[in-house]
Amino acid sequence: MSKDTLILAIESSCDETAAAVVKNGREVLSNVISSQIALHTLYGGVVPEIASRKHMEAINQVIEQALKEAKVTLDDIDAIGVTYGPGLVGALLVGLTAAKAIAYATDKPLVGVHHIEGHISANFIENKELEPPFMCLVVSGGHTHLVKVKDYGEYEILGRTRDDAAGEAFDKVARAVGLGYPGGPKIDKEAKNGNKHAIEFPRANIEGAPYDFSFSGLKSAVLNYINQCEMKNIEINRPDLVASFQNAVVESLVTRAIKAAKEFGMDKIAIAGGVASNTALREEISKRCKENNIEFYHPSPILCTDNAAMIGAAAYYEYIKGTRHGLDLNAIPNLKLGER
Ligand code: KG4
Ligand code: ZN
Repeated sequence: MSKDTLILAIESSCDETAAAVVKNGREVLSNVISSQIALHTLYGGVVPEIASRKHMEAINQVIEQALKEAKVTLDDIDAIGVTYGPGLVGALLVGLTAAKAIAYATDKPLVGVHHIEGHISANFIENKELEPPFMCLVVSGGHTHLVKVKDYGEYEILGRTRDDAAGEAFDKVARAVGLGYPGGPKIDKEAKNGNKHAIEFPRANIEGAPYDFSFSGLKSAVLNYINQCEMKNIEINRPDLVASFQNAVVESLVTRAIKAAKEFGMDKIAIAGGVASNTALREEISKRCKENNIEFYHPSPILCTDNAAMIGAAAYYEYIKGTRHGLDLNAIPNLKLGER
C-alpha cells in the first residue's frame, strides 16, 4: 500500500488566520481558524492593515495548534500548501512567509494554491465520491464565478460577476438596513421571518454573456427602495426587504448554474465560498437539481467560509500532479484561476 500524504496548509488571504493538516486530500486531521470578524465588525468591514497585523499575531500559534490537534510533527508532513492569491496582499504575505520559512527550514516542498481552487476543493472533503468533471458555483465575499471543473486543477470559467460579488452585495445591503458586518449570515437569519415575494427587485441579464452576473443594479434598487420609504415616512418591513433581496440573488445564481450544467451536459453541481452556506441558496439549488436529475454537492458551512482544510485539499491534488513552487513565490492579490 502506498504511503499517506500529509499536507500542512495555511490560509491568510482575508480576515481568518487558518492552518490545517489534511491526509490524502480528503481527510481533515485538524482545521484551526482564528477569526478576526469581531474586530472588523467595529469598522463595518475588513480593514487590510489591521488584518495583516492580526495575522502576524496569530499565525505561529495557529500552525502549532493545527499540528498538535492532528497529533503530528513537521517531520510527518510531506508538503506545505499555502494560499498565494487572490486576496489582500499584506494578509497573504503573512501566511505565505510562514509557509516559505517552514518549507526552507524543513526542506519540504512548497505548493502555492489559488484561494478559489481551495473553495472548490472544500467539496472533496465531505463528499468522498465526488470527482471531476462537475459544475461549480463559487460565491464568496470577493468572487462570483461559474466554473467548469474539468479535472483536478483544471478549470474553465464560464461566467463571473461584472461588478459586486454576491457576498459583497449581501454585506452592503446588510449595512444599509442596519444589520452590520458580515451581512450574509445576518440577512440569512432575518430573511427566514420575511416574505421573499414581498418586493419585486430587478434581476440583471447581460446580453451575450448568459453566465455572467451583476448585483450592483439590485443593490441600488434596494437602496432606492429604502430612500423612498424614508421620504414617504413608510415603515420598512426589514425581514420582507432582506428576504426579497436574498431571493433575487439566489434566483440569479441558481438559474445560471442549472442552465450551464444542462448546456454542458454535467450531471453534478457543487457550490463553494462563504455565500454557499446561505440557507435559501442551498434549499433552492437542491430543489432545482432534483427536478433536473442533477446531483448536488456542498461543503458544511464551516468549510464554505475561509479555512485552511480546503487549501490542504487543493494542495494535495496539485502536489500529486507535481506542482512545486520556489521560495521566491510572491503573493498575487489578483491571481487568476488556472494561472501558475
Ligand atoms: O469565502 P469567504 O469566507 O471569504 C471570501 O473569500 O470572500 O466569504 C465571505 C462572504 C461574506 O461576504 C459573507 O457575508 C458571506 O460570505 N456569507 C454569507 C453567509 N455566510 C457568509 N452570505 C449569505 N448567507 C450566509 N449564510
Ligand atoms: Zn474565501
